[in-house]
Amino acid sequence: MELHLNSRTDFTRNKGCRVCKNRTLYKFLKLGPTPPANSILKQEQLLLKETFYPLDIYLCPECSLVQLKDVVSPKTLFTDYVYLTGMAMTMKQHFHLLAVEVVNDFNLSKDDLVIDIGSNDGTLLKGFRHLGIKTLGIEPSTNIALIAKREGIETINDFFSVGVAKKIVQSKGHAQVITGTNVFAHINDLDGTLQAVDNLLTSDGIFIIEVPYLVDLLSKTEFDTMYHEHLSYFSLRSLVTLFKRFNLELFDVKRIPVHGGSIRCYVRRVPSEIKSSVHQLLSLEKDLKLGIVDTYLEFATKVKNTRIQLTSFLKRLKEEGNGIIGYGATAKGNTLLNYCKIGTEILDYIIDNTPFKQGLYTPGMHIPIMHPNRLVKDMPDYVLLLAWNYLDEILEKEQKYRELGGKFIVPLPEPKIV
Ligand code: TYD
Ligand code: ZN
Repeated sequence: MELHLNSRTDFTRNKGCRVCKNRTLYKFLKLGPTPPANSILKQEQLLLKETFYPLDIYLCPECSLVQLKDVVSPKTLFTDYVYLTGMAMTMKQHFHLLAVEVVNDFNLSKDDLVIDIGSNDGTLLKGFRHLGIKTLGIEPSTNIALIAKREGIETINDFFSVGVAKKIVQSKGHAQVITGTNVFAHINDLDGTLQAVDNLLTSDGIFIIEVPYLVDLLSKTEFDTMYHEHLSYFSLRSLVTLFKRFNLELFDVKRIPVHGGSIRCYVRRVPSEIKSSVHQLLSLEKDLKLGIVDTYLEFATKVKNTRIQLTSFLKRLKEEGNGIIGYGATAKGNTLLNYCKIGTEILDYIIDNTPFKQGLYTPGMHIPIMHPNRLVKDMPDYVLLLAWNYLDEILEKEQKYRELGGKFIVPLPEPKIV
């Protein structure tokens, strides 16, 4: 194992809170050192040393942002990427509905421009385009941007920045809606991002983000969603604090089920009327003591218990002679496997429908990734569901395996056979 700290050029450590700049952050959990969760390996790379980075989780008690201080360079993490939004039907449907809702709620017309930050394979923008709205994607991963472009979704292959925003304004004008789904947590320089949004948005434009919600993470012990790509675990309060600094107002919020429980936040320039949904969640967060370190020490204890329960559960199944594989070579799966030290002595392999993950190996634990058609062919006794956020979709898809007697295990908050 090679552990690189500040000496590396692709790694920095923040001095204070990413949102409110407070210098006193509390470390409450150590999940690493771990390799980046999406750095899957080719067979010939298995003998090389992987780079491990600290995966320590901190609370800012001032604004209740949970965060990593250690930041792996976005170029290292995102230039060549493996995550494709369109691989899950659940997400395709979710984003299609989002596009329909936004067009209706904000009366968008054909002259309006919608820009998606971190547009991935263009799944969300396809929905807008289908409704006749002008779209533009911004996606830093070269291989993923290419997939979107091939499908006819105009995409700028770059990280979103003030420079990129200014160029867009010159060539296409301002955006009436800017979206950023599951990308805000990936961004270290939130100030730069909001400056760019400020440059790009029309005076009455709407900025919409979706982020996994800290309340769900804590209540369901979803510690596996913590990895180097996810720099921030947002409370609503931390987001309100952030937007205020840029004269933006978070005026509405909805809790949505995706990725283990997320929030969709609606933001525009002040002054705007703030919906009761915002006050309600802020008061829930106060009741749940999201700004207090004890809340997180309790969470850390639950995480450690989960590790003990899950590993002893799997070991017992294995000792009883069962075959077990994993389902979904997910980023979160790699946090779970590395933190619990679950390797090939437990899981024979992991199946995943993403073409460019198949034939490769998971970071850290080096478990082979295979095509999903292996499932019914091999009929392992148990499948550990690493993509638990798609439980319903996967249970439905794998009916045959279940009819033939196969069983799924949901790993969190405690292992459960479904
Ligand atoms: P996901 O859980 O969305 O994210 P993350 O990597 O951020 O933890 O990833 C889902 C993975 O599961 C992705 O690699 C595709 C795979 N998958 C399947 O193999 N089969 C399926 O039916 C679904 C829904 C996903
Ligand atoms: Zn803070």
